[in-house]
Amino acid sequence: MEKPNMQFCADAGGQYCPCHLAHSGDCIKCSLIRGGKVCNCKWQGVCIYDQLKHDKIVPVKEREETLCKIVETKEIDNNIYFIKIEIPKKMINSLCEPGAYVFLKDKNREDSIFNAPISVMDIDEKNNILEVIVIPRGIKTRPLVTADEVMLKAPYFNGIFGQIEIKSNKNKNCLVILDGLSQVNSINVIKRLIRNGNHVGVFINEKGKRLNIVEEKIKEMGLNINYFNLDENKELLEDYIIKNNISFIYSCGLIPFNKEILNIVDGIDDSIKFAIPNNNLICCGEGICGACTVRLKNCKVKTCKAQLNGREFLSNLK
Ligand code: FES
Repeated sequence: MEKPNMQFCADAGGQYCPCHLAHSGDCIKCSLIRGGKVCNCKWQGVCIYDQLKHDKIVPVKEREETLCKIVETKEIDNNIYFIKIEIPKKMINSLCEPGAYVFLKDKNREDSIFNAPISVMDIDEKNNILEVIVIPRGIKTRPLVTADEVMLKAPYFNGIFGQIEIKSNKNKNCLVILDGLSQVNSINVIKRLIRNGNHVGVFINEKGKRLNIVEEKIKEMGLNINYFNLDENKELLEDYIIKNNISFIYSCGLIPFNKEILNIVDGIDDSIKFAIPNNNLICCGEGICGACTVRLKNCKVKTCKAQLNGREFLSNLK
């Protein structure tokens, strides 16, 4: 049977580790748990194998479902809704992480198949408010935009490939490039980059869907937005990267857009750190259903759990 390569897991060492995959012998991080003879995980945190051996009889710690109040719902564009949800204070810090996402579910549904994965757009830390964008497309999401309460399951962390690349920047020149609705999860990234003393430039592809609410938040953080058209004046972007000695780029669009940006970046300097949103089809978020699996370098990768580098993902995607 095909075994996954050494992969970093977004949940490794956290409060939800060891998870169901570890208990079933399918841990994506630990070779010993997967039945290997030697440990090759290079993991420097608490040993998952050791924890599992000692805690075997302890059930997996599941993320809790919480009934939360919806305090505001507003249609901000044609069939695009901005929703504010009051959430427990204990979730605030985790949901401020770049790549954080939640599952929302109609409170009248029991079954977890109705869970819809939704990116965190922003967190109002003072008032314990989660802000999200929802596009009602089917029976999972349609009830969310008319409800006054919602079931929330959180936190989940793997909404971005390249989290180490984001968090390791300190006092550097960074660039965030936005295209279309993927831009929703850029706010936590920008906040983290600013918090670490980085200078952040922002480019928005004018051809893609624009979200005023995201642009306003970026401006409120004191950043200027540069507008460009990837098809017509990508030189603007190239000049900016070269002149500002950019050392990290978050390309926040769909895969074809991110590939084009990566080509531009690698044409300038392939040592520039690179992160992208995880746009893969997330269903369970726990590594169980296989819906998010992609093949990279002849190896199956569960993208809801495996934390990859943005360049590595795009370069090896079949
Ligand atoms: S979403 Fe189910 S395995 Fe990843």
